[in-house]
Amino acid sequence: MYKILVLPGDGVGREVVGEAEKVLKKVASVAHLVFETKEAEVGGASIDRNGVPITADVLKQAKDSDAVLLGAVGGPKWDQLAYAVRPEQALLALRKELGLYANLRPATVDPSLIDVSTLKREIVEGVDILVVRELTGGIYFGTPKGIEKTRDGSERGFNTETYSTHEIERIALKAFELARKRRRKVVSVDKANILESSELWRRVVSGIGKRFPDVQLSHLYVDNCAMQLIRNPKQFDVIVTTNMFGDILSDEAAMLTGSIGMLPSASLGDTHALYEPVHGSAPDIAGKDQANPIATILSVAMMLRYTFQLHDLALAVEAAVRGVLKEGFRTQDLAEDSKQTVPCSKMGDLIVERIKH
Ligand code: IPM
Ligand code: MG
Repeated sequence: MYKILVLPGDGVGREVVGEAEKVLKKVASVAHLVFETKEAEVGGASIDRNGVPITADVLKQAKDSDAVLLGAVGGPKWDQLAYAVRPEQALLALRKELGLYANLRPATVDPSLIDVSTLKREIVEGVDILVVRELTGGIYFGTPKGIEKTRDGSERGFNTETYSTHEIERIALKAFELARKRRRKVVSVDKANILESSELWRRVVSGIGKRFPDVQLSHLYVDNCAMQLIRNPKQFDVIVTTNMFGDILSDEAAMLTGSIGMLPSASLGDTHALYEPVHGSAPDIAGKDQANPIATILSVAMMLRYTFQLHDLALAVEAAVRGVLKEGFRTQDLAEDSKQTVPCSKMGDLIVERIKH
């Protein structure tokens, strides 16, 4: 029996997570497994009820579960609050408290969606990139940070980009191990031409690279990587990078696939794991049954693969997604022609129907 904590969060979070839960149910029934799911509030939903983005009790429930499935947090309603109590803090607390240092964001272009991308067919066809983003360090968590008054009566805002040897080593190891199961190429992304933290990053990643002579390692500055992702994305296999650079580059990589509504993620630590779509809460379409549930459903596939080691079932879910897209069904973010458009809930049902084991 597996214990899953479900955290729908805000905006479209509830809708997409609902479809992912249908998938979990179907998987459980075809494979005769039991997934015990519990639901809790995080983000704006938790702020409204409890005054904080995540309660100690929910954090404990997350620690007690085998895996966490999260929808999205945030929305305009809570944007005026102080940073410490914004919805986004729920995510940061979960990442830090559960030790989820490795964020895997695979950007693969589905053959049926090549023409949905804003880039040319020959550029995106066959793209298969895994962004490995460091998730519990860097400028997101570094201290000192804050906004202070200056002597001239003005203000100064500041954050600290910091990486220790240990933090770099463990994320680099993860990237190299994953590359071994793929095309054996790692590109490490930094800004070593100006940042000391990047100088150390590059040195430590190179050191780990020596232990993986069968994996080809190269380094790119982040600005060049941003350009290369659009110019020739097929050159990439695994990209390993810092928290902030990974945040930015993974959104860029997502757009190669046609829509950010397609991108799943896994956040892994040594003892815990959290799965969530890369897209946010999309308040403009929330509650309209228009969201694309595929990123969350593919996050469930990642959960089956990485937490439960149920590789065949992960493949079965991914095959069902590919099948539905091949048949021409689209959510509105993917539609080239509005005739094909199905609502979020229908897309979920279509995928569920096609899961075979
Ligand atoms: C992401 C998001 C988050 C991040 C926000 C919501 C805190 O953009 O997961 O990419 O910046 O990490
Ligand atoms: Mg982001």
